Amino acid sequence: MTKLMRVGRTVVMCGGLLGGVAAAVSCGGGDSLDIRFARPGAAGGQVGRGSFTLGVATAAAQIEEGNSTSDWWVYTQPVDEGGLGVGQFVGDAVQGYARALDDAALVEEMNLDAYRLSVNWARMEPTRDNYDEDAFAHYDAVIDALVARGIKPMITVHHFSNPIWVDDPRVAECPAEGPSDSNLCGWGHPTGGPQIVAELAEFAGELARRYGDRVDEWVTVNEPVNYLVASYMLNVFPPGRNLLFNGFDGFIEVVRNFMAGHVAAYDALHAQDTVDADGDGQAAVVGFTLNVIEWAPAVRNRVSDFESAVRARDSVHYVYNHLFPESILNGTFDSDYDGTPDETYDEWAGKLDFMGVQYYSRQGVTGSPGLIPRINATPCFGDFDFGACVDPVFDETHCVPAMGYEYYEPGIYNLLTEYGRTYPDLPLTVTESGLATNVGRRRAEHIVRSLEQIELARREGVDVRGYYHWSLMDNFEWAEGYEPRFGLYRVDVATYARTATEGAVLLGEIAGARRITAAQRAEYGGTGPMTSEGDPRELQVGCRPVD
Ligand code: BGC
Repeated sequence: MTKLMRVGRTVVMCGGLLGGVAAAVSCGGGDSLDIRFARPGAAGGQVGRGSFTLGVATAAAQIEEGNSTSDWWVYTQPVDEGGLGVGQFVGDAVQGYARALDDAALVEEMNLDAYRLSVNWARMEPTRDNYDEDAFAHYDAVIDALVARGIKPMITVHHFSNPIWVDDPRVAECPAEGPSDSNLCGWGHPTGGPQIVAELAEFAGELARRYGDRVDEWVTVNEPVNYLVASYMLNVFPPGRNLLFNGFDGFIEVVRNFMAGHVAAYDALHAQDTVDADGDGQAAVVGFTLNVIEWAPAVRNRVSDFESAVRARDSVHYVYNHLFPESILNGTFDSDYDGTPDETYDEWAGKLDFMGVQYYSRQGVTGSPGLIPRINATPCFGDFDFGACVDPVFDETHCVPAMGYEYYEPGIYNLLTEYGRTYPDLPLTVTESGLATNVGRRRAEHIVRSLEQIELARREGVDVRGYYHWSLMDNFEWAEGYEPRFGLYRVDVATYARTATEGAVLLGEIAGARRITAAQRAEYGGTGPMTSEGDPRELQVGCRPVD
């Protein structure tokens, strides 16, 4: 059915073409009926087909206080205290370590089925091969508390942070004598990289051995592509390496080793988690999560079907949204990013029981200039705008000012359906979806709109088994510090008290009833204007932040 809708100042047809470019526009859940959610089930395997898990997600490094043995600590710690002073100091985050059991109660308060949390490798293995038993006991108690409340834990092994000994951010070059126990010199180092792969696997195996009797669902690594781009290519995450213009082959080696890290962790989790905690016949279901972006081809800050822009968009889409699943499912690697794999790794093939899909934004990409080697493309990246940043499809209320990008509802539908077509046997779960906002009603709108789009994909037969909102409470948003607030619960910066937002209340109602009513959809859903953030940055081209 074709419907008319507003796009900026113009009107387009839902389901039609936009600006001459093949950008499918769909309009909300496709109808105005209730959306009902099936019972929760397994993220992987035939047994979980048709199930739908409603959950929430966090990461240890973003919520926990006092992680002084982690790379983020020394990277952000003020210079006069011995750190590198980059960005805002992570410090006490939101005291998520001390408050972990109280936070578990918040998950139950929202009637959710599951909690995706990460453990803190740096806290648990502060020096190489020495485990901290108190830290292991802490997560043990958290898992117990979740299970006691009837909440399924999904554990992420590696979520954007490392112990300092993996690659000390304070050391610019690997010492001449090479890697040591106090500094393995990073994922790309010829001898240190493979040791890190082995260490990650050993750690994952230890988690599975200790917690596998209560945990069945595991994420090896979180969002490998944007994590590696930020930490090893663009110098915005620790260890702060910049291999974009300074040794791009080294970056490819980082990516290759990280893929091997997923595979080694996958094998270790399966080997050590032999207990079927929930009795569904599967002891361990293991995947990675992937940040996915709806890329728009751009020239001079406008969406364009100009050949170089479309080629750049296609290349970025392939490398960003497909290279990881394709490599692991097929046991191949496309080291020159030209679209054709040129390396074979039989031991990688098929080591993905499910994929976590994490969608936040639509972003522009241009081919002129094409600054990223091999793919000759330049995405819109914060203040670095080489003509790739474009206006939001619908209207400026879809800008997310604190993050400098656009929330575009149909993006998650477009990507899920594409994955369903490309990898029909791969179960999917939306392991993160969220919005940085100070306005509770905007978060409520984001929840309903995202679930509508996921429902559309499910109705087309895509095997999507769940939705985890990012995030349970406000937290440390990495390079962006504490300004962006992704929390269902708002955190008071002085007292750390958590207060439910309108988003938390609504998600709680939805999860409690296992449905979104037609009235809730009418109030919050669709793709029309959202409640405004009331921030002048909404009016910037590409919604990007400017000084
Ligand atoms: C990451 C989270 C992050 C969130 C919001 C995801 O890329 O997994 O750690 O906080 O997006 O930006």
